[in-house]
Amino acid sequence: MSHQQTEARINELTVALNDHNHRYYILDNPSVSDAAYDSLLRELQELEATHPELARPDSPTQRVGSLPSSGFEPLTHSTPMLSLENAMNAQELIDFDTRVRKDLELDQIEYVIEPKLDGLGVELIYVDGLFTAGSTRGDGFTGENITQNLKTLKALPLRLRDHNRPVPSYLEVRGEVFMSHKDFKALNQRQLDAEKTAFANPRNAAAGSLRQLDSRITATRNLQINIYAAGRIDAFKVPTHIEFIQALRDWGFPVNDHFQLCCGIDEVIEFHNKLEVERESLSYDIDGTVTKINDLALQDQLGIRSRSPRWAIAGKFKARQEITRILSIEPSVGRTGAITPVANLESVQLGGVMVARATLHNQDEIDRKDVRIGDTVVVQRAGDVIPEVVKSILDQRPENTQPYLIPEKCPVCQGHVIRLEGEAKHYCQNISCPAQIKGRIEHFVARRCMDIDGFGTKLVAQLVDESLIHSIADIYSLTTDQLAKLDRMAEKSAENIMEAIRTSRSVDLWRLVHGLGIRNVGEHLSKVLAKKYGSLARLAETAADDLEATHEVGPIVARGLVEFFRDTANQELIQQLRDHGLDPQHDISAATEGKLAGLSFVFTGRLEHFNRDSARETVESLGGSTAATISKKVDYLVAGPGAGSKLEKASKMGVKVLTESEFLELAKL
Ligand code: IVH
Repeated sequence: MSHQQTEARINELTVALNDHNHRYYILDNPSVSDAAYDSLLRELQELEATHPELARPDSPTQRVGSLPSSGFEPLTHSTPMLSLENAMNAQELIDFDTRVRKDLELDQIEYVIEPKLDGLGVELIYVDGLFTAGSTRGDGFTGENITQNLKTLKALPLRLRDHNRPVPSYLEVRGEVFMSHKDFKALNQRQLDAEKTAFANPRNAAAGSLRQLDSRITATRNLQINIYAAGRIDAFKVPTHIEFIQALRDWGFPVNDHFQLCCGIDEVIEFHNKLEVERESLSYDIDGTVTKINDLALQDQLGIRSRSPRWAIAGKFKARQEITRILSIEPSVGRTGAITPVANLESVQLGGVMVARATLHNQDEIDRKDVRIGDTVVVQRAGDVIPEVVKSILDQRPENTQPYLIPEKCPVCQGHVIRLEGEAKHYCQNISCPAQIKGRIEHFVARRCMDIDGFGTKLVAQLVDESLIHSIADIYSLTTDQLAKLDRMAEKSAENIMEAIRTSRSVDLWRLVHGLGIRNVGEHLSKVLAKKYGSLARLAETAADDLEATHEVGPIVARGLVEFFRDTANQELIQQLRDHGLDPQHDISAATEGKLAGLSFVFTGRLEHFNRDSARETVESLGGSTAATISKKVDYLVAGPGAGSKLEKASKMGVKVLTESEFLELAKL
């Protein structure tokens, strides 16, 4: 391909990929398959790797993130990013409307009401349609320049669309970055697998992800963004907020769909109440509504106070905290034998949902909060997590209450209960405890493990209670007859379940690893281990220090694995599974035979032949692995010009440093 042809192809691919991206993330109406998209993206990456000078500033390849920065530069907003006054209830919304109508001398006002997204406010700047800078809200006047991180957000347009509406040459917009419940849960699972602390809620997770110095990490967090307000926009005029939303859509911005145009405050209140109910079924957190005067000339006429506009108000939702009473405390036994004290409550409405049980976590938490049976307590629900008891209201405590202690005998099997040094939880010691058996089987058949369809909690309980199964291996000796004889089980359902059990014999290895329920080994780590070791047998015979050499495996996880496979009962279990034909293998031949097999690389600085992605792909295709940071598990740092702190750290830690040409030599490329 001539230089000119390459340039034309790069342009064509950039435009096409940005267009596909818009169709996928904004219009929710893709016109190509994921595979076709990936193949175009790979072609662009390869062309850009050989001709970096031709890469366009709006290239979608930037969404994978770039080299870590040493800190964020301040960025001053051209007009302050304001906050909003709060209305705590319907009356305060009515008061707001009364004030507005009086100031404007109007009988009725048209409002737009939208969800108040519970994330982080950001500002995006576009010059001649190109995304050039973005920042956090900061103190409202000056934020931090997080442009590289924002570029990794898939729904953020890198270039604005001018098909339907001209794009102003200078344009600032404001919106909210947030994380969906699904991504929040997955992220926390990954954090726990890697022995890192979990985030308290999606908002904190979004904040933590957005403020990463390494934008490649931000890129893995699948952050969402919705735009809802204007900053400075040159030579642009629309009469209403509704039309502004339409302009945002035309330019290709993601906009929240749950807004409503209302005539007068009564309609606003009605929609606010409707959203409060809908909130429960949304896939992300909202913490209220925002009501804005639709007419932008009227907005101008009212103007702003020092920190908030007079033309808008936030409507708070009812607290998801409520007061109720603890009827009893029930120690509940999980699959690991861990005992969680659960409070049975006088039922109470919490943000639209009836709640009758709340977790008390463990003995330490009970002691710290001094929660007792009979207490009047504050309970809360955050996001879609399990409700919890926040505190007891001491002056309402009845007489003669006693501090609660987790029993010394397991409430299910009467087995011995112990609490290990340094652990918050009590454990039932009896591995044959029916509660543990049920828990282990439920985990094994779950969707994110062996995915055996139709094998629900009730069936597990029936089978264990009737002594038809005692372990996960016994699932594979069940017969259609045995199932069909169970209460409320139709012949057809029994056959379907048997079929699902048969199918599960050929699952991927990671599902079995996850299904075994090894402590601290979640879905993500199971995938990592399956990929590296290829079979249960190999994983079982690996020593702790070898396991620890695996990226993401720390000493606690390694010890848990070794202990699990050393246990004779577990060895028998695995043998039984094997006898039932369950011994999936993961093909790791490529990884053990490549030229870079077993070697781990970090890349830093400017490279001539690679970008980060193509470097990683090259190493992986030769059996090696790459890491983002220097540690003692890394074999080589490949450093190009401009390398900084990583080079320093590598030299300090004695990690070998290669130039790019030495790397090419080593890989014999
Ligand atoms: S409008 C001048 N609309 O709430 C009004 N803000 O407490 C500017 N927020 O900092 C904001 N959803 O981060 C607006 N639909 C929405 C919003 C929203 C969430 C946040 C925003 C702002 C804060 C104000």
